[in-house]
Amino acid sequence: MSKKLWGGRFKEDTNSLVENFTESISFDYRLAEYDIEGSIAHAKMLGECGIIKENESKKIVNGLNALLRDYKSGNLEFSTALEDIHMNIEYLLIKRIGEAGKKLHTARSRNDQIALDIRLYLRDEINKIIILLEKFQVVLLECAEKWQDYAMPGYTHLQRAQPVLLGHHILSYFYKIKRDNDRLRDNLKRVNILPLGSSALAGTTYPIDRTVLARLLNFPKISDNSMDTVSDRDFLIEFAGISAIIMMHLSRLSEELILWSSSEFNFIEISDAFTTGSSIMPQKKNPDVPELVRGKTGRVYGHLMSLLTIFKGLPMTYNRDLQEDKEPLFDIINTVKNCIEIYIKMLPVISINKENMLIACKRGFLNATDAADYLVRKGLSFREAHEIAGQLVQYSIENKYILDEIPIEKYKKFSNLFDKDIYSAISIKNCIKTRTSYGGTSFNNVKKTILREKKKMKG
Ligand code: ARG
Repeated sequence: MSKKLWGGRFKEDTNSLVENFTESISFDYRLAEYDIEGSIAHAKMLGECGIIKENESKKIVNGLNALLRDYKSGNLEFSTALEDIHMNIEYLLIKRIGEAGKKLHTARSRNDQIALDIRLYLRDEINKIIILLEKFQVVLLECAEKWQDYAMPGYTHLQRAQPVLLGHHILSYFYKIKRDNDRLRDNLKRVNILPLGSSALAGTTYPIDRTVLARLLNFPKISDNSMDTVSDRDFLIEFAGISAIIMMHLSRLSEELILWSSSEFNFIEISDAFTTGSSIMPQKKNPDVPELVRGKTGRVYGHLMSLLTIFKGLPMTYNRDLQEDKEPLFDIINTVKNCIEIYIKMLPVISINKENMLIACKRGFLNATDAADYLVRKGLSFREAHEIAGQLVQYSIENKYILDEIPIEKYKKFSNLFDKDIYSAISIKNCIKTRTSYGGTSFNNVKKTILREKKKMKG
């Protein structure tokens, strides 16, 4: 019988099906470094508080550091029979240093241990994602700057609406990503709380000092309720929710890149390095990267739903169901990081078909609002002006004109307020230039916004 570390009260061996069913080492090995880091702090605290002897504490710390080195050089082997990362590390420690190793788990449970590992791991990963998002924000600003003066149709309902600058359009994504970054920073406040010292569920009888643990592990706060602490994964579900929003944003951008690179739009060309071909149709150049980002969004949404569902019926406190949080979490982190990374590289090398974007601005009456605004400036109410501009559009459709081509005499038939300056008033350039309200698409606004946000990112 392979003796389990918890085997004292058992007479029979674990069924091999159960071993495979309950193990988590096949995925929670990813927590190895954090598990060791947490155990080092715990052993130091036990020593400082006189719960174990100083020399035992030192022996444990040295042993754990040796394990960490072995792990990093790929020389640590884990076993399924030992269930999870915590048992594997503890077993290997005991094997390496003997009796002292058996004291490591004093005043601790795997329940507060896993809560710690997850928080340490997630804290690191969130910081990495924040850095990636910042890089992406810089890329978005650079692209907005590079393409700031390119006119393109702005859409509502995917119908041509009003001309905007591509710079303005790109900035709209900059702000979405900026909010995602703020959300992650806020999430960090709730991740960054020390759970260790809650023990199994009720606290411990040993004279531990959680402030020592908090200092050693760099946590600004200590959790307040042991039962809440071992049962809580809110911070992780919150992270999954934020990740779902990040993916939603990337997916919307992907959808636009896919549409824009179609022959129907022909606004952009994604670089060869970020597209793939067809096995049958020689002419094809497919936008697989944005398509996969859009597709992977579904995965992340699914994980969020899994997590919410795993937790919805759990009584206090720790339940083994909690082990099911890891695979979704790991996959969310992989997916989000990969998607942001590929966007950072792909976006700057997209080539823009400036001409076609401008041509698209000319068809579709994107300046009809400006024709109405012209009449308002001449004294008409907006509602009346809207009616007349609508009639002009109707007339143009019937006579295959665009507003810019209607002769001035005709204009005057619709309203004698029209004069020759109507043509400059409704030029694409003017439509953009005059949208100077704060947050609007005017050349000046976009330029200023890019400068302002660049400065903020440096500061
Ligand atoms: N591997 C478990 C998890 O990931 C932690 C162990 C807690 N197990 C237990 N039987 N109390 O949640």
